[in-house]
Formats: sequence, structure tokens, C-alpha cells
Amino acid sequence: MGFLVDLICTRCGRCHEKSELWNLSACCEAPLFARYDLEKASKSVDRADLPGRETTMWRYEEVLPVERAACRTSLGEGFTPLLKVGALGTRVGVPDLYVKDEGVNPTGSFKARGLSAAISRAVELGAAAVAIPSAGNAGGATAAYAARAGMAAHIFMPKDTPSANIVECRRLGAHLTLVDGLITDCGKMVAERKAAAGWFDVATLKEPYRVEGKKTMGYELAEQLGWELPDVVMYPTGGGTGLIGMWKAWDEMEAMGWIGSVRPRMVAVQAEGCAPIVRAYETGAESAEFWEDAETIASGLRVPGAVGEFLMLRAIRESRGTAIAVTDDALLACVDEMASSTGIFPAPEGAATLAGLKQLVGDGWIASEDRVVLFNTGTGLKYIEAMSSADHADVQ
Ligand SMILES: Cc1ncc(COP(=O)(O)O)c(C=O)c1O
Repeated sequence: MGFLVDLICTRCGRCHEKSELWNLSACCEAPLFARYDLEKASKSVDRADLPGRETTMWRYEEVLPVERAACRTSLGEGFTPLLKVGALGTRVGVPDLYVKDEGVNPTGSFKARGLSAAISRAVELGAAAVAIPSAGNAGGATAAYAARAGMAAHIFMPKDTPSANIVECRRLGAHLTLVDGLITDCGKMVAERKAAAGWFDVATLKEPYRVEGKKTMGYELAEQLGWELPDVVMYPTGGGTGLIGMWKAWDEMEAMGWIGSVRPRMVAVQAEGCAPIVRAYETGAESAEFWEDAETIASGLRVPGAVGEFLMLRAIRESRGTAIAVTDDALLACVDEMASSTGIFPAPEGAATLAGLKQLVGDGWIASEDRVVLFNTGTGLKYIEAMSSADHADVQ
């Protein structure tokens, strides 16, 4: 099925054998990237063949890591709508505006893509159980795909994670541990326990395949826009896996002759209460320092330290993009604005991209003729407590 060759260290380029279950690279303790034989892949599939294929991310199976179809663990993830939102665009000064609505994925967020790929490959390579530190949505997705695969899942989440994520993990049969701390504390707990417990750690970018699932957003964007990428992509950034994945996807697509060399400017949008990538971008640093006392209502953006920070900063700079922070008040106001003007009920993280867009239009960094895509990475329905605190006052 696939054309996976090996795994490459993102720091030094050393090859790692594809048939082993890897976490970080053996040489540099850095994320590993899957490498494919793109020449062979491009002979096996032409972009013109795609319309006849299934409407999930698995339409790009030649550039996904799973080798045996029986191991594919799918709930129908990907190939989400790319919706033109012209009225909202005109109001904010960018008429050619789109929202990629990831809220319609299984489990209600784009985390489904990464976990579908990672659990599929973990099944293929013989993992007995997986463990994950999560801000919420990745935990829910892990629980769902592990249930689908018949595998045990051990999920560690901050105790103040939205209740929808907690409930779904439990109902889906995962073992859930609520932690009095942040996602980074959850990550430490997984790392301490995994060897003795026999868990495979699927923390983002600490295993090589979640990014492969997330990269399919980049394939879809190109396909849905007739193989011409937009001018600007706005991405709500925590661990940054989607941003890094799309950047990888476009290089693969260029190597296969599917697109040219023009790339969008990538904008990482973070919350003011947790903006390590923005700070590193602004100071010209190549890596990001840990953000103390991280706090934001957009729980997926509460990632004070990310293992792939240098990859994010590299992609942002290579694309001539930028990184900006928005306040919780601004992103919450944008939930209502996006929802009421487009019909898409966004996660706070997705709404943050609209708040960021307004800032960049105001600064003149985005021009009125630019084609811009906002990533709504999840559904607002998972954040009911955060969004409805004022609503009961209306009862009569
Ligand atoms: C809805 C939502 N948006 C954005 C993010 C951040 O994603 P990434 O880690 O790929 O930057 C998350 C992560 O939990 C999320 O749940």
C-alpha cells in the first residue's frame, strides 16, 4: 500500500529503521519524520485519480505510513469541508476568506487525523497499549481509535480539561488520569510510567506518525483549492503538529509534481496567556523557552513547551509568516462572530485565528486581495462550560 522508506531525525538526518516502534530519534532525541519513496508514489497515483477515491484522509494512502490495509484504524476522518465565508471576510476586509472546518471530524477535532495514523501504525508494529498526555481533544481521539482497534489507552489530562473530553474518554473505555498540572506534567507522568507498564507513548511529535495524519490537511487544502495554495494559513498553535505537518506535506507534493514551489505564509496564533512560539519568533530565537504559569480558556493552546518548537519556528520563517498572540476576551468574542456569521460553531482555538486575522489586517500584514484560510480545529460543542457561563441569565 504505502511507500514508506524509513524515518529521519529532524535534527541531524540520521535514518531510523521503519519497522521498529520509535519515539524520539536515537541520536538527538528529536522528532522523527517519515520518508517515502515519492518517485514511486507519484507513479502509483496521479492527482487526477483522487476524485474517485474515498472521502477521508486515506485517499492519500501512498503517502501515509500504514503498509497493511487490515491495520488501518479509521472512523472516517479527514476530507473536511473548506468553506468560503465571504460575508465574514468582507466584514473583516479579506473577501477571499475560507474556513477549513475540522470540527466535523470523528471526536469533533483535527486530532482524529493524527491519532488514526498513529494508532494504525501502532497496531501494525505490534503495540499492546498506548499512553498519551493531552490537553483534551487528543485524549478523546486516542480513546476512540484505541477502542476501534481493540487496544488499551491510558490518558493523562489536566484536571481542568473541558468535561466533554473527560466524559468521552471514560465512555470510550480509556483509563483516564486527571492531573493537578499542565500537559507538560502529564507528559512527565507518561514518561515515568510507560516502560514498566508496557505502554507505547503517542505524545505529539514524540512518535513519528501523528504528524503524518495531520499533514493530510495540507494535501486537502491544495486539492480543494484546485492545486493552488492560499496566500496565508492561520493555525491555532499548541504543539504545532498540524503546522509542521502541512509544511512537510507541501514539500512531498512538490516532489511528486502535484504543486509548484509557491507556499502560503504560515501564521501561528497563540493565546496571550501561553505564547512561547510568539515570544521566540519575536526575539529571533531558534528554539522556544518554557512558558511559566500558562493560562488560557483555549485549552488546546495551553502548551507551555513543545518538542517540535524548532520545526514550527523554521516553517514560520521559511514561509515568511509570523506568530501572534490574542487575548482570551478577543478569541471568545470571535467564537460568536464566526458562529453567527458562518454557521460554523468553532472551538475557542479555531476562533483565535479570526482574532489573529483581524490584528494582521489592522497592521496591514494581510492585504485585502490575499486568499486566507483559517483553521477551525474543533467543534465549539466540546467547550460548553467555557462558553455558556452567561447564558442562563436569559431564562424566563
Ligand atoms: C481544538 C484544538 N486546536 C488546536 C490545538 C493545538 O494543536 P497543535 O498541538 O497541533 O498545535 C489543539 C490541541 O489540543 C486543539 O485541541
